[in-house]
Amino acid sequence: MGTNVFDNLQTSPEMLRQIDNQYLSWGDTVHYQDNPIIVTGCQDGVMFGEGGHKYLSTGMWHSSCNFGYRNQQIENAVAEQLRTLPQACGDFLHAEKLLVAKEVVDAIYERTGVKGRVSFNVGGSLVVEDALKIVRKNTGKNKVAVMMGAYHGRSFETLNLSASHRYREYYNEFPGRAQMFPFANCSQCFYDKKRETCELYCSRMINKAFSNEHYGLASERSTEIGAFVLEVCQGRGYVIPPKDFYQDFIPQIREKGVLILDDEIQVGMYRTGKLFAFEHYGFVPDIITLSKSFTNGLSPVSLVWARDELVNPDVFTPGHAHSNFANHPLGTVAALATWRYMMAQDYETTVPQKGDYFLNGLRRLQEKYDFIYSVDGLGLLLNIVFADEQGTPYGRSASIASEIAQDNDFEWKGERWRMLLQAGGYDLNVIKLAPYLDITHSEIDCTIGVLDQVFEKIGRIIA
Ligand SMILES: Cc1ncc(COP(=O)(O)O)c(C=O)c1O
Repeated sequence: MGTNVFDNLQTSPEMLRQIDNQYLSWGDTVHYQDNPIIVTGCQDGVMFGEGGHKYLSTGMWHSSCNFGYRNQQIENAVAEQLRTLPQACGDFLHAEKLLVAKEVVDAIYERTGVKGRVSFNVGGSLVVEDALKIVRKNTGKNKVAVMMGAYHGRSFETLNLSASHRYREYYNEFPGRAQMFPFANCSQCFYDKKRETCELYCSRMINKAFSNEHYGLASERSTEIGAFVLEVCQGRGYVIPPKDFYQDFIPQIREKGVLILDDEIQVGMYRTGKLFAFEHYGFVPDIITLSKSFTNGLSPVSLVWARDELVNPDVFTPGHAHSNFANHPLGTVAALATWRYMMAQDYETTVPQKGDYFLNGLRRLQEKYDFIYSVDGLGLLLNIVFADEQGTPYGRSASIASEIAQDNDFEWKGERWRMLLQAGGYDLNVIKLAPYLDITHSEIDCTIGVLDQVFEKIGRIIA
């Protein structure tokens, strides 16, 4: 069970909420919810909150803790670092940083045959910005392409890439906006096509846009696009594109000198059953970003890998990038311990097996509830789409489901549970599931059992 933080801090939930009301700016995302929970502890795939409630964490903080809350092996390494070298100026070398760099570079080389180098930064947005610097430095081009529905962060530069207009609307113009293309989001196709008959129309349209100078992006010789920035499977609705989607356009645009920048911040680290999601799709990126589960959520240290020719010391000379905390020893030791923990498991076998077991449970729910339009999964990245028979989304239905799951008690095998559900999709009509990768079959049964009860309640609202 979680420790009781209120005893230690001699405070009460009411008092904490009063502080939140009076002292906090509400401009971050906490108050997307009317009544955010106050958390007090966590373990494996469960969060503990005020009132002694236990919450099944079905999204693991948007895939920031793939290896379980309070993973003992990783936690011990950080605790040990606290006693040895907890602080060090980013301008020094230290073993933790160098070892994790080597292990990541070697792992990518083993999988792709491509030699690369890495650097570190703080959090996802800043490391995507570092990746954009690598693009600009090497191609001389500012403009990049992205997919509709993409999310690459909310710093000023990454706001040029993230799809949602909502994030930009408060801040006037963004002259550096990325060129945007429809993604292969087959349950909600931009072109209103059906997957069975579309012959990957969306992919062909990307090729077409680069094929004729009068479409405004490229001539036969060159293009104004420096890189295509991708989330291989999209975080917005855990959208899993068809297997041949990327092969259909990446080789052609590469011939024009476009670099492929693969943002694996949410779907890397074995989330999909492979170390990197790109491994399912038959291409090798030029640049890869990692954050979130890179330190299993213990620190914001993030990483960018790039092909050696893009970042070797002749090209990327000292000072091209910097952040005071980028190489923090507590963060890099968390990354090293996480990497070693991850590599010692057999996730390439277990994650697909558990993913199939989970997806079968979701299919049973789909048979039972006619507001479930589709379910899908790749490893332990899964989605449930709420829509009518024609595929018209039930707007906000996933948000309503997540409120119900979070604010009510459900019983499973004599124990009381609440549930944290991630809502996503273009119309907040998709439940996004990303449980911790060591989840057991009986924990999956419990999750499906509680979801069933949540859907019984939401069914009455949707119907
Ligand atoms: C794919 C992807 N890229 C970038 C980011 C931005 O990361 P951060 O919130 O740490 O800046 C996120 C965060 O959700 C993400 O999912």
